[in-house]
Amino acid sequence: MDSIRKALRLLTPRERRRLIPLLAGIVIMGILQVAGIGSFAPFVAVVADPSIVETQPILNRIYTELGFDSHFAFLVFLGAGAFAVMLFDAAFRILVTYGLHRYAGNRRYMMGLRLFRQYLYQPYGYFLDHNTSELSKNLLSEVDQVINGVVKPALHIFAELFSAAAILVFLLVVNPYVALASAVVFGAIYAALTFGIRPLVRHYGKEVREANRLRYKSSSEAFGAIKDVKILGKEPAFARKYGEGAKRFAKTQAAKRMLSTLPVKIMKPLSMGFAIALILVLLAVYGSVVEALPLVAIYALAVQRLMPHLRGLFRHGTTIRYYSHTVDSLYNDMTSTPPPPAEKDRKLAERAVERMPFRSTVELRGVSFAYPTSPAPVLDTINLLIEKNTTVGFVGTTGCGKTTLVDVIMCLLEPSAGEILVDGAPIAEVGRWQRNFGYVPQHIYLSDDSVAANIAFGIPEELRDQGAVEKAARVANLHDFVVGELPDGYQTTVGERGIRFSGGQRQRVGIARALYHDPDILVMDEATSALDTVTEDAVMDAIHNLMHTKTIILIAHRITTVRECDKICMLERGRMVAEGDYSTLLAENETFRSLAKV
Ligand SMILES: Nc1ncnc2c1ncn2[C@@H]1O[C@H](COP(=O)(O)OP(=O)(O)O)[C@@H](O)[C@H]1O
Ligand SMILES: [Mg+2]
Repeated sequence: MDSIRKALRLLTPRERRRLIPLLAGIVIMGILQVAGIGSFAPFVAVVADPSIVETQPILNRIYTELGFDSHFAFLVFLGAGAFAVMLFDAAFRILVTYGLHRYAGNRRYMMGLRLFRQYLYQPYGYFLDHNTSELSKNLLSEVDQVINGVVKPALHIFAELFSAAAILVFLLVVNPYVALASAVVFGAIYAALTFGIRPLVRHYGKEVREANRLRYKSSSEAFGAIKDVKILGKEPAFARKYGEGAKRFAKTQAAKRMLSTLPVKIMKPLSMGFAIALILVLLAVYGSVVEALPLVAIYALAVQRLMPHLRGLFRHGTTIRYYSHTVDSLYNDMTSTPPPPAEKDRKLAERAVERMPFRSTVELRGVSFAYPTSPAPVLDTINLLIEKNTTVGFVGTTGCGKTTLVDVIMCLLEPSAGEILVDGAPIAEVGRWQRNFGYVPQHIYLSDDSVAANIAFGIPEELRDQGAVEKAARVANLHDFVVGELPDGYQTTVGERGIRFSGGQRQRVGIARALYHDPDILVMDEATSALDTVTEDAVMDAIHNLMHTKTIILIAHRITTVRECDKICMLERGRMVAEGDYSTLLAENETFRSLAKV
């Protein structure tokens, strides 16, 4: 019940409302089925004893009103009637089942999309302490499991429950004693099996989640670092790791299948025994076959119809219990994180990418920051003033906090103390402030798409500005290479993660990407560190051309890279230890001198 409730809460109110016609269809389906069984009764009764047409008032009325003159013709009519009702029942059942699958299919799509959005709109910090392969797995396989493992079975359970209840009510009307006896017998068997199996099913459900996580993790790790895997010859280790997960997954699947069919296997002989006992009891009570026959026939038909429903109840109940862990985790992900903006706001955001005005200064006042995973501050009371259209360099040893500092300036990370002021005022809307930046990371992520698409990243082809693409590529020193050496020019695909490009070429695509939007502030986070000095000089010349028309933040470990900066800031273990232009620092700072020598 808890899993079903959670699954229902994962649906939007509108989706829950859409359930109503479906449930109504299921109710009608149950009634139709009983009508099918009931319509069989008069036929059997007349077969067993034709004289009943004269004695039974309702039958007699139909017989005379419709003007039948032979018992056989009447029998054909009754038989055809029963057949028609059952055909209609079957057709309706097919329709409702189709509706059910369609509903589940659409929910799978919508729920997946909702979850993807939910993840995507989380602040940057969320992705620092979540494994991205786990997020992908949730998106691809767990949404499916919630739909196929809980939403669909829950609908089926409702259908089975209602159909079974309708049959039982019908039997109750026909003969309360027999109905009560069947309800007690079947109910007891059901309860015993369910409670006996439940803990096992829960255990295997947990196990399957863990195994699935292992499978995904090991495969994405191996493919993600394929070069290291090859060089180190670690294929067997990763294959073993994947194999462990896959084997556990397979084992639990087998156990689950066995458990879900176990009740059916037990129920089959028991229900046959019950039917035999029932026939014997009816015979003993009525004394003759002819009198017992209609009742026996109806019970036989009803029980035969009841069995699949009970079986369905077991099967779907087991399935839900098996996937309850998945619902829990998806439910937690959906409810423990802030929701994405409403559709209205998203549409607005897509249209208006208006930048927050930046007129004179960005100022950091006493900014400190610590990552949630470790208490030690990575930035320690940083004070810094960046004037518009100047170039500022950050230098310092690896791990001193340079990347973290620009992440804070770009509002990807929220400082734990201190404040950031733009033109003297706090930043009101983070999104609009971020639009001012062009960011070139140390390692560029290229998507398996054309060079042009990678430069105009995230922009649909029809909105791409080829002029801007080429302009950015020229500044990044990439244009000649693209036009001169690539087979399809800007349309050449770069391969998965840019595998067909060299490190230097990838970096230059990244620089062009940052420049495409003509940002006010360009941040280069060791963006040229992977380039050889000749290429780096060429790129830096291009960057120098932008100096004093743009605000530029350069992070570098080579001092020569920041030589031309208006201001160089030296960081040491999260503290600002020196600040000044190149010659001042060279003259005044011992550490800077030693760094400059390298
Ligand atoms: N996601 C993270 N979680 C915890 N600690 C981190 C994280 N990212 C970086 N750090 C730590 O913060 C410090 C500064 O890192 P970083 O800003 O990347 O340094 P730099 O760019 O100067 O090399 C390092 O000691 C690093 O270990
Ligand atoms: Mg860094």
